[in-house]
Amino acid sequence: MELIRTVDGMQAHADEARRAGETLALVPTMGALHDGHLALVRAARQRADHVTVSIFVNPTQFAPDEDFDEYPRHLEQDMAALDTVGGVDVVFAPPVEEMYPDGQQAQRVWVDVEELDQHLCGRYRPGHFRGVLTVVMKLFQACKPHLGVFGKKDAQQYLLLRRMAHDLAMDVEVVGVPTVRETDGLAQSSRNRYLTPDERAQAVVLSRAVQAARKRILGGEQRPTAIVEAVRHELAQAPDAKVQYAELVDTTTLAPVSELEAGQEVLAAVAVYFGDTRLIDNAFVQVPAAP
Ligand code: PAF
Repeated sequence: MELIRTVDGMQAHADEARRAGETLALVPTMGALHDGHLALVRAARQRADHVTVSIFVNPTQFAPDEDFDEYPRHLEQDMAALDTVGGVDVVFAPPVEEMYPDGQQAQRVWVDVEELDQHLCGRYRPGHFRGVLTVVMKLFQACKPHLGVFGKKDAQQYLLLRRMAHDLAMDVEVVGVPTVRETDGLAQSSRNRYLTPDERAQAVVLSRAVQAARKRILGGEQRPTAIVEAVRHELAQAPDAKVQYAELVDTTTLAPVSELEAGQEVLAAVAVYFGDTRLIDNAFVQVPAAP
């Protein structure tokens, strides 16, 4: 496993692998790797000959009041975790100056998104997805992958990246990998480590809430309001949970659905605070034909 720190070095390496006829996959991460990331690596390995994992805590996707400075940075630990899972060819871990060579204030061209970032997380994190899409575009330019592999836990991110690749006619396939969960159902996240033991125990309500939505939809419930009510009912079982949103949206428009259509793909999504820790979870569901 090779560690590459510069964009030039990464591009030269990727060019060589492409010349050798290899299929390249990139797993973009911000480090603090957990089993969810390792599942992305395995998925990448299954689909490609050459796997790059990028580790870069991207400043432009954090608002000033968010946890950019505190975000865990443990490159050696992350590399050891990747070594155990195996199958990673390159770790691309550039310093900020490589990704924003003139400083982020001087950057004048960004990948922006219309409408789709007005819903779910985007509504509460203005500018977040502009930062994500822009850095992923830069990572794609540096690592030159055929496939970009992302977790579906960050559902809005995954859907926007898919849309970016489509709308900008990019020659990269965006692959989504199902969420990896703890035994009680809590979705794995780098932020789970901030929870107190009591909050951790209560946090199970997020997965119960989105599973309640799935069960209702697959059981034939047609009323979005009843489905969202069931989600909120589950979340209310955690006394310390502060719900930021609980919604049922269409996966193409990301707008709340007013009625369900057979065959439509919808997303039940929640964001909840425990103290200062913000957790998200979701379920993608295909609406069945009416009974
Ligand atoms: O999901 C993440 O960890 C980040 O948003 C990503 C895709 C690596 C971009 O910084």
